[in-house]
Amino acid sequence: MIFMRKALTIAGSDSGGGAGIEADLKTFASFGVHGLVAITSVTAQNTREVRAIYDISPDVVAKQIEAVADDIGVDAAKTGMLSNAEIIKAVAKTVEKYGFPLVVDPVMIAKSGAPLLREDAVEALIEYILPIATLVTPNIPEAEKLSGIEIKCREDAKRAAKIIVKELGAGAVIVKGGHLKGHEAIDVLYYNGKFREYRAPFVKGCTHGTGCSFSAAITANLAKGKSLEEAIGKAKEFITMGIYYGIKIGHGHCPVNQNAWRDIPAEKWRIYEELMILGETLTKLNDAYLLYALPAPYTRSEKDICVLRRGEIKFGAPEELASVLMDRMRKEPDIRSALFVKGDVRFGKSPRDILKSLGII
Ligand SMILES: Nc1ncnc2c1ncn2[C@@H]1O[C@H](COP(=O)(O)OP(=O)(O)OP(=O)(O)O)[C@@H](O)[C@H]1O
Ligand SMILES: [Mg+2]
Repeated sequence: MIFMRKALTIAGSDSGGGAGIEADLKTFASFGVHGLVAITSVTAQNTREVRAIYDISPDVVAKQIEAVADDIGVDAAKTGMLSNAEIIKAVAKTVEKYGFPLVVDPVMIAKSGAPLLREDAVEALIEYILPIATLVTPNIPEAEKLSGIEIKCREDAKRAAKIIVKELGAGAVIVKGGHLKGHEAIDVLYYNGKFREYRAPFVKGCTHGTGCSFSAAITANLAKGKSLEEAIGKAKEFITMGIYYGIKIGHGHCPVNQNAWRDIPAEKWRIYEELMILGETLTKLNDAYLLYALPAPYTRSEKDICVLRRGEIKFGAPEELASVLMDRMRKEPDIRSALFVKGDVRFGKSPRDILKSLGII
């Protein structure tokens, strides 16, 4: 048996697996936290559109929260799509009984443009949910709606943040800058009377589910006992990576890849392990370069390719050799390894495969 922290998401389901409950659970898993759910609404959704919304009864939403909190315990929770005022009131009343840290992602509109919160429910969100929030994570349009001011630049975002904390009673707020296009995605935190900016390069990739995954990542890290500022820092790194390695599916806004955060370090370790075992054998092939790349979707440059040469193992293969392997991987994504020896090159799915085919092992 192992010990695990528990994080709860109170949100809607996205049948396309890109946002909502589905994104939250994948994010929790990526941070090694056990995920709990209270589903507020079922949406029939894909990367292009929301086709139907079916709200769960407020009583059943509350019962889901109670069921997990009474038995399993909740180290931190987040809210996503709350859909209507009745669900909002039920969630606020139930969460208040337990007092766990609560991250509120004030979801109002889906990436595809569909409304996910009824117009009349915004007031309820402000009245019941914001005062019990440890942190609120609005994007620019949401921060405008909550604060009542227009946001055109970072100074406006700071003014809105102050209003959300000082006048609406949230514990802290981070206004996300994904909608203010520029070289950097800059989010502004207002916490304990101070501002702090979180910056990352603005990357091309997939953005369906960014808001859900970002707030879920903060929640997972709070559940693990990190401070609010540390939790946001980790979430920022996580979301930038998730967008960059986004999953190319569907015909609309493709989803964030929550697995990249865990997959890449895990794959790196597997590569080191295999090359360490083979290192001995390869000393026989004196001038050989043995290359081993991360799985194809994660191999973007020579930095993602490990090289074994004269017993030394390191990521960052010589550029000319890396480009030969990457060319081959583009045609055959299962290929991940290349052995360069005496002017000859052999490809394989793994170094072990190549060495076996040569009769070396
Ligand atoms: N293209 C991008 N490159 C890097 N970071 C980004 C990009 N787009 C958004 N972000 C970051 O992702 C996080 C989520 O912000 P975003 O503004 O996308 O939320 P959102 O609008 O609520 O998303 P959603 O539409 O999924 O609800 C923030 O940290 C933001 O700065
Ligand atoms: Mg959002």
